[in-house]
Amino acid sequence: MSAPAVSSLRQSSSASQAFEIRPFDAPLGAEILGIDLGTPLNAEDFARVHQAHLDHGVLVFRDQHITPEQQIAFSRRFGELQIHVLKQFLLAGHPEIFIISNIVENGQPIGLGDAGKFWHSDLSYKELPSLGSMLYAQELPEEGGDTLFAQQQLAYETLPAELRAAIDGRRAAHSYIARYADEVFEGIQRPRLTPAQLAEVKAVVHPVVRTHPETGRKGLFVNENFTTHILDIPEDESRQILAELFAHSARPEFVYRHQWQPRDMVFWDNRALIHLATGCPRHLRRRMHRTTIQGDAPF
Ligand code: SIN
Repeated sequence: MSAPAVSSLRQSSSASQAFEIRPFDAPLGAEILGIDLGTPLNAEDFARVHQAHLDHGVLVFRDQHITPEQQIAFSRRFGELQIHVLKQFLLAGHPEIFIISNIVENGQPIGLGDAGKFWHSDLSYKELPSLGSMLYAQELPEEGGDTLFAQQQLAYETLPAELRAAIDGRRAAHSYIARYADEVFEGIQRPRLTPAQLAEVKAVVHPVVRTHPETGRKGLFVNENFTTHILDIPEDESRQILAELFAHSARPEFVYRHQWQPRDMVFWDNRALIHLATGCPRHLRRRMHRTTIQGDAPF
């Protein structure tokens, strides 16, 4: 397998933090207690976190009190950061942080309000999709606002044999704009993309089944948000297969539901999971800060 895109060895040799990794009673996910992400992790602690991320897919770091700079610094230890195409929702002075929020100020949304309303893997529409994303809770609603994560390696391993044979060796197209125009948040249409933005998000092709570059495990890599069609088969067949894959990939037995607690920082693996934001009542405020780490070209 290729070497992980991490830079643990370059970091300081600060003292170990005595943190605990507690797997959830769910098909994926674990919480990490007693860690401070604002203090650079030494190589040994970083290696534990890195391994836990591979083992559990979703890590929930509880009760973090860190600055945007510290979120960026911790994210960078896993690889280069990706800057979202919707520049109007980047945190001022910190373009590595993408604001996801339903808050509207002076008639203008301060972040992307409807991010994640369809199942997806972040940035699967790029040649180099995301390795993982870190989402940090800034302001949470009193009800709703949960995020669901579905394990796509389990989904692949449990596919009916016929469906598995139908996608074997196939490739699919992914496009950022596939459902872009459908997405209207509280009556506010998503901003129209400029020609420069459209040029940044040209459609790409990825294998329908990808091999995780670090664990070698195979998983489904299609999603209802960005995958438009499977190449080299008739359109109706592609539509039918994708509908079956989308239904299968989000079955409850593959899903962990994250109910956010104040100051949670959640780090998930976009190479192994898809996720969905469930939304919250429109009068309640929700604001999250996301960093997105670039991954490898899927194979
Ligand atoms: C996302 O899709 O990255 C956003 C998830 C969320 O806001 O819960």
